[in-house]
Amino acid sequence: MSICFVCHESFSFFLLLFKKISRAELFDFHGNVQNFQARPDDILIATYPKAGTTWVSYILDLLYFGQTERQTSTPIFDRVAFLESTISPMGPGKDLADNLPTSPRLIKTHLPVQFVPKSFWEQNSTIIYVARNAKDNMVSYFHFDRMTRTQPEPGEWSSYIHRFMEGKMVFGSWYDHVNGWWKKKQTHSKLHYMFYEDLSEDTGREIDNLCSFLGLSRSDEEKKRVASGVQFDNMKKDDTTNYSTHCAMDFKISPFMRKGKVGDWKNHFTVAQSQQCDEDYEKKMKNSTLQFRTEI
Ligand code: A3P
Repeated sequence: MSICFVCHESFSFFLLLFKKISRAELFDFHGNVQNFQARPDDILIATYPKAGTTWVSYILDLLYFGQTERQTSTPIFDRVAFLESTISPMGPGKDLADNLPTSPRLIKTHLPVQFVPKSFWEQNSTIIYVARNAKDNMVSYFHFDRMTRTQPEPGEWSSYIHRFMEGKMVFGSWYDHVNGWWKKKQTHSKLHYMFYEDLSEDTGREIDNLCSFLGLSRSDEEKKRVASGVQFDNMKKDDTTNYSTHCAMDFKISPFMRKGKVGDWKNHFTVAQSQQCDEDYEKKMKNSTLQFRTEI
């Protein structure tokens, strides 16, 4: 209970700080979150920011709807509704989720599990959670903060690492996020928990697992087409998936589809920084059954 309260407080604080919204708006935001009406056939894609949201969104989009005219003309951020912007008083996409022309509705969120509108649990909606190892997640988030106009300035890399470890981020602590959703998986059977690193190792296998979980029968040929369509290079050159049409991003600073690699953290961390991070990780994860791959 107290952990929940602390998360709640820090999350609220950072919303206030970074989004520069008033307390009244923040209050509305929380109220609106809970008012969101989920449907039984909704698919919620939940992630800590920069863990592979767009990748998995596109996989699901192709598995359900295939390569239609819509897929080639509408950017992914308009095909998959962003929960926070549909419920936020300052968000641009208020009615996006209701106006999605498809069923199931694909909805994405970065909310920590305790903030998810209760209707998702009441309606027993399907949830796909994607986790990414802390160090790569941190690096990707750092570059994203540099290039996104709506995010706080990241400052120096050396101080960013500490802010990340302390959980002073817009969506709270990475540790709380990945562990909170992991715990939820134990009680919500319609939650599929997957890892960026597994997807990177064998996209076809992960697509098979997704199809089994979702009860989707797709031919081998269809699944191969999806696996090929969602390869990094294909998504990077596709204007509907590479975010090049999104007005809040400055691609001169860094592209949205940046590297798409496991282990890029090695190009950013000094040996001392990596050690510090490992120690922090050991401490914070010691009571968790959640295991990230160790060979990274
Ligand atoms: P990098 O910054 O490490 O390149 P999100 O969609 O949650 O914002 O995550 C973005 C991260 O996922 C970026 O990581 C991006 O390059 C990576 N990504 C997106 N599509 C990918 C793909 N098809 N293959 C590998 N990585 C992908």
